[in-house]
Amino acid sequence: MAAPILLEGLKRLEYRGYDSAGLAVIEKSGVVCQRSVGKIGALESELAGADWQGTSGLAHTRWATHGSPTLENAHPHCDCKKTIFVVHNGIVENHQSLREQLMSRGHRFRSETDSETLAHLIEEHYQGDLEKAVAQSLPLVEGAYGIGVLSSDHPDQIVVARRGSPLILGAGDGEFFAASDASALISHTRKVIDLQEDDIAVIYSDHHEINNLKSQSILRPSRTLAWDVKAAEKQGHDHFMLKEIYEQPEAVCNAMRGRAVGSEGIAKLGGLSGIEDEILKMKRLCIVSCGTSYYAGLLGRYIIEACTDIGVEVDLASEFRYRKLNFTEGTVVLAISQSGETADTFAAIQEARRRGSLALGLVNVVESSIARETDAGIYNHAGPEIAVASTKSFISQLTILYLFTLFLARRQNMSMAEGQSFIRELESIPEKIERILERASEIEQIASHYTGYKNFLFLGRKFNYPVALEGALKLKEISYLHAEAYAAGEMKHGPIALIDSNLPSVCVAPQDSTYEKTLSNIEEIRSRGGPLIGVGTEGDETLRKLCNHMIEVPATQEIFAPLLTVVPLQLLSYYIAKELGCEIDQPRNLAKSVTVE
Ligand code: G6P
Repeated sequence: MAAPILLEGLKRLEYRGYDSAGLAVIEKSGVVCQRSVGKIGALESELAGADWQGTSGLAHTRWATHGSPTLENAHPHCDCKKTIFVVHNGIVENHQSLREQLMSRGHRFRSETDSETLAHLIEEHYQGDLEKAVAQSLPLVEGAYGIGVLSSDHPDQIVVARRGSPLILGAGDGEFFAASDASALISHTRKVIDLQEDDIAVIYSDHHEINNLKSQSILRPSRTLAWDVKAAEKQGHDHFMLKEIYEQPEAVCNAMRGRAVGSEGIAKLGGLSGIEDEILKMKRLCIVSCGTSYYAGLLGRYIIEACTDIGVEVDLASEFRYRKLNFTEGTVVLAISQSGETADTFAAIQEARRRGSLALGLVNVVESSIARETDAGIYNHAGPEIAVASTKSFISQLTILYLFTLFLARRQNMSMAEGQSFIRELESIPEKIERILERASEIEQIASHYTGYKNFLFLGRKFNYPVALEGALKLKEISYLHAEAYAAGEMKHGPIALIDSNLPSVCVAPQDSTYEKTLSNIEEIRSRGGPLIGVGTEGDETLRKLCNHMIEVPATQEIFAPLLTVVPLQLLSYYIAKELGCEIDQPRNLAKSVTVE
């Protein structure tokens, strides 16, 4: 029976977007469809009494773009006759004109969504062959889509297609799946087939066919997912976010495995082989990314510039295209993206390639759109990250940026001894993160003192400035408290006006080359009565005395400190959000993978 499988799949995808959900199953009597507003739990309750026997169906969780999260706007959407049902990820950019044309030909719309146009468009072309109708409709669509289509006239098949939105097939034992994310089908099969741009596939219970838009048959290879269902489950933790925070020592190891060669003090990055010469000619690196990945990029700038003579720029992917960048020879663009599907980052990388730049990717999800669009890249191998707020991916991205730095620096002026010491220090990080994790209950205690505040300031300098930004983002994302991050030196240019007993400051101040200066900023806050949480080096009694609360991290070379200092900030946000009763893994309004620009 399809319904329970679809519901389970939806639950595993709930982290990606979740203001409404729905499913449709082909029964003997025709297609039955149930939708509901809110979390999957609501849909599940509504389906409690249903006795659906059908073995094929579609399901969807929605993150509202066009049209508010109402029942009418929830997917699946259907045609006028309620025979063709569609689920859609992405955006139909020309939906307005399509809608007008279709309405003028008598189609009746029931929702405000762009997605519904697809159901009517397919109905318009349908003459007995569902796949053909889909193939004829899609060239008329501008924008991005990953779609699933079924019809009561074809109970044995489901048609799926993609352009600019992820879609994979899963081959089970006598059953076949399609999903936008591997975690939806991982409990049924690890054998997947990645669909490529403009592929249309028809899946049956025991086989599939893939065609292009011209109905020419295509063969796509299958691969086995490198992780199993356990990676997509909480494994005893209260939340995925906490589980993923605890997976960080392993994430560092996984990112380094087979890449850091301690004896020679070098990094081997297999994903870059073949383009090493071009990389060695690199004079300027432009990093593009969004959200947490953007902060990893900001840190990348500090790290790479500290160890090489390459100039690094970091852009928010959404702003990248608005700059009139001069792509001089030797400019390389690096996209950082956990999901590999972020629309802005994808568009930025497309633009870079159009302008003739070498495009690299630092991506977690294998075979994702960004991974495929780049000329070469490095995978995180961090396993699936389910919580919306990114934690282990950030640590993993940083680890790879350190390796990339080593890769570049050893081809410039870094000596073998320096390279060896670099790797030794990096290899000591997992154990040091473990030591911070052992202090989780202490951090939980500290968090309990701060749940009554509404605003927070995060401060850090140099390598720890991006950490402050990331700390503030974490708090905003999951606790809905307002948090702003500033470079500590910038505090005197404005934020200091806000300091009083109602504004706690979280100061990231390990004993590094900027320590003394940051201490002065801390003194400035203290003298104005601002509550202080310090994140500092183990045994730093000076910092402890200045702050109301202090969280210690083990000592390390200053360049590697962010791998440690960010961990208490993640835990602090987590415990504040937990105490406030927030939906930690699925914060309101956010989605894990933002496939709209
Ligand atoms: C969304 C997520 C963030 C993530 C950002 C970039 O906003 O909620 O956690 O950092 O997208 O995602 P990416 O997959 O490109 O790293």
